[in-house]
Formats: sequence, C-alpha cells, structure tokens
Amino acid sequence: MKNKSLVGINNLSKEEIIKILDLAGEFEKNPIQNILSKTVVASLFFEPSTRTRLSFESAINRLGGRVIGFSEASNSSISKGESLKDTILTVASYSDLIVMRHPIEGSARYASEVSPVPIINAGDGANQHPTQTLLDLFSIRKTQGTLEGLNIFLVGDLKYGRTVHSLLMAMSQFGASFTFVSPQELKMPIEYKMYLDSMGLKYTEQTELNQNLDKADIIYMTRVQRERFSDPLEYEKVKNVYVLRNKMLDDTKSTMRVLHPLPRVNEIHTDVDSNPKAYYFTQALNGVYTRMAIMASILDLK
Ligand code: CP
Repeated sequence: MKNKSLVGINNLSKEEIIKILDLAGEFEKNPIQNILSKTVVASLFFEPSTRTRLSFESAINRLGGRVIGFSEASNSSISKGESLKDTILTVASYSDLIVMRHPIEGSARYASEVSPVPIINAGDGANQHPTQTLLDLFSIRKTQGTLEGLNIFLVGDLKYGRTVHSLLMAMSQFGASFTFVSPQELKMPIEYKMYLDSMGLKYTEQTELNQNLDKADIIYMTRVQRERFSDPLEYEKVKNVYVLRNKMLDDTKSTMRVLHPLPRVNEIHTDVDSNPKAYYFTQALNGVYTRMAIMASILDLK
C-alpha cells in the first residue's frame, strides 16, 4: 500500500487486508507511538461525520501527527465556487496525506487521480467507505476468531448504504454467505448480486427482520440513509422499517455479534445495548486502531 491511495476496498488484496488487520492489532496493544511526528494529514469532510473524522484525528494525535482541514464544505473555498481539483492540489501542497469524505460517488477516485499525495476515501456518496470496512473486518475477526466462511446478515438500507457495499466486496474474498434484509425499495443493487454470482457465493433475500436470525454469525444493522433520498415522502415510508430488539436475539448463536457502522437512528432499540452480543460501540473504538494501521501502511512507517 506504500504511497497508494485507498479509494475502494477492491484496491486491496486479501493479503494486504490481513496485513492491515494484523497491524491494527499491534496498535490496539500499543496505541501511543510517535511515528507521525513529521506528518501533516489533511482532513477534508464535505459531509457530516462523527466517528470517521474524529477517529482519524484521534489516531493522528495519538501517533504524534498534525491535522489540518475542515469539517464542512461551507468553511472552505468550495463555497466560493472553487473546483475539487484546485482544492486537492492546494491542500496536497500543505500535507502528506488527505482523508476525504464527499457526497459524490467517484469523487475519491477523481481526487486520487489529480493528487500528488495519497487520498484515503472516508466515504464517497452511496459508493464505498473502505476504512469503515477495514474496521468492520477487524471487529468481525476479533469477535469470530476468523473471517472465513461466515454468514453475514446485512440489514436495512442496502441500496444507498456504502458500508454494506464495501463490506460485501471485502467479505466475498473470505468465502462469506449473505442474507440481505431490506424492504423492496432498498434492496441490494443488482451489480453487487451479480458480483457474488460471479464469485460463486450464496446470498438470500428477505423482507422480515425477525426470521432466520439463529443462522447469523454477524447481524450488520444500518441506518436508512435519509440524505440520499430525493423524495422525502419515500424516506418517510421506510425510515422505521426495522427495529432490532433485545428479545429478537434470544435464539441467536452465543458467538453472534451485532454490528452497526453508526450513527444509529431507531434501527437498534436501546434495550440491545446492554446485551453482550451488542458490539457497535467497541466497533467504533476499533476504528482508531484500524485507521492508525491504514495511515502507517500508506506512509510506509510500519
Ligand atoms: N460510520 C461512520 O461513517 O460514521 P460517521 O458518519 O459518524 O463518520
């Protein structure tokens, strides 16, 4: 990964993924190091974020680096009409690495093509969120002891949810099977199903949440992505379609864990939070170690 941008999870081979997860495990054991003391990271968030932006900033600070950037586009000269290309070229001259979240699909790819420094995609529209995927893989391996041959339930907004798209691509390298749980309006896009078909991997689809949960190794809940709907009435129809409740976990495997990239709206009832199978807040913490590993790999510091 040395000096390479991370635009999509498919940029990484299985071996590169494992290497990052192993390195994240080392950072978990020893998170205070000074390896970024000569590094300036630019954090460009054109869309809101709590976990991705702040876990990157936490990782950079704990590794002795410096952060510059903005947390909303209105604070940048984009609001005066500056192009993304000019923004990237300018910021690249101030920094060694750029972390960018942007609402337009493909923006991270474009930025990586014009930037002289590596770009890390922190989410581009409904397309991909590869650093989330790496922390999801870290969390899955930590809780299941393996990434191979697991049954992953992806629940909620499978149409617009970039985290489920990236996770599907990554877990397909490890022979996963999938159960897609969504309303008709938010089904997994055909291109991802065709991809699984081409890999010879199994998936099933269902509209009921409380069905077959005893077969899950991971239940990956997602929020309905209000910001991606052009018609607010369409969002109102589906916004509360699933609510995972504590009782629904009674017959699930003892090793099963509930993940969620967060933020949560209503899709996981708070009565799940105290269940030992709820893993989403530890998953968010794992983002710090995983993002440390991603930056160290790209900057060839480990
Ligand atoms: N999971 C995630 O991307 O969360 P934020 O939107 O808070 O960064």
